[in-house]
Amino acid sequence: MAGALRNVIRTKLRVAMIPADGVGREVLPAARSVLEALGTALPKLEFTHLDAGFEHFTKYGTALPDETLRVLREESDCAMFGAVSSPSRRVAGYSSPIVAMRKALDLYANIRPVKSVADLPGERSNIDMVIVRENTECLYIKEETLTLGSVGKEARATRLITERASRRIGQMAFETALARGPSPLLTIVHKSNVLSVTDGLFRETVRSVPSLPGIDGRYDCVKVEEQLVDSMVYRMFREPQVFDVAVAPNMYGDIISDAAAALVGSLGLVPSVNAGDNFIMGEPVHGSAPDIMGRGIANPLASIRSAALMLVHLGYDDQAKRVDDSVDAVLRRGDVLTPDLGGKSTTQQVVDAVLKQI
Ligand code: NAI
Ligand code: MG
Repeated sequence: MAGALRNVIRTKLRVAMIPADGVGREVLPAARSVLEALGTALPKLEFTHLDAGFEHFTKYGTALPDETLRVLREESDCAMFGAVSSPSRRVAGYSSPIVAMRKALDLYANIRPVKSVADLPGERSNIDMVIVRENTECLYIKEETLTLGSVGKEARATRLITERASRRIGQMAFETALARGPSPLLTIVHKSNVLSVTDGLFRETVRSVPSLPGIDGRYDCVKVEEQLVDSMVYRMFREPQVFDVAVAPNMYGDIISDAAAALVGSLGLVPSVNAGDNFIMGEPVHGSAPDIMGRGIANPLASIRSAALMLVHLGYDDQAKRVDDSVDAVLRRGDVLTPDLGGKSTTQQVVDAVLKQI
């Protein structure tokens, strides 16, 4: 992983914690415990709780308080986000705080490693891929209109793809590929056989990254392939082992990463970071899981792995490896697992098992 954040020397690490809604509140403390367990291997940790989410919106009329953004910008080195319960219907005045934070802090990449480590129920073996999802545009700019046409209601959404965003996500994807080993493969996911203008621009721009001025052959060892998004899903289920790094516009990236999570046994295992040039925010890929919230059985491992991934982006590779190895050890032993993985353990029991390993 390249990046300016990796080379900063810190005497303290200010971590903003934004649990938000649902199981976000149950799994984020797990990330904190694990960071604390690293003790003196990290700079002195300072945690700050920040508000956001749908429940905050229903109580106070805002899903993302200005104060949360201010503390993130001015008084934090990094952050961990839990999950938000965005309603599926339109609610006047509400807008997803995670989408807004990604935009406000210019966290333009969402990096999602998906890996199988043990023969868990429902897990396919030998999967080791990273999905690099563009995080600021595509259909998620949320420019939608509803009009009355001659045949009834007509809803439209604008899909924005810019050269700038495609170039920088492309570069992030090539860098991610380089960090993975000697002969990495980068798969560009698109649908430019149908959306030749928007996906066409994404595809061409990512393809042109190796010939940008200043790259000077840096990405020559990266093999580049392409996959239409629908056949990407098909191939991910048929032969997920072939994929290494995949780069995709925002919505395709969102969808294929939930699909990839199914291949490794549970959404409760898949971590991510929202990455920009100057800030990093860890976030489990899953949502607020209303079907299991409040029961103390949410899988905390995605959240714990997200904390480790955040550490990698801050330059603490060895510390992150200690966390990842501990999670892998717990999964391989297989006797302390939450119900999503076929186990009977609680969130806290899984956290304790990881802490014991660390
Ligand atoms: P979801 O990811 O919350 O849940 C999908 C399935 O995975 C459910 O069966 C759930 O029980 C399971 N699951 C998720 N996390 C788990 C964990 N840690 N341990 C064990 N099982 C887990 O997606 P869903 O149900 O479509 O959406 C629920 C809410 O979450 C919605 O309001 C949605 O808007 C929001 N959401 C928020 C996201 C975010 O904050 N970045 C991302 C995705 C959805
Ligand atoms: Mg999603």
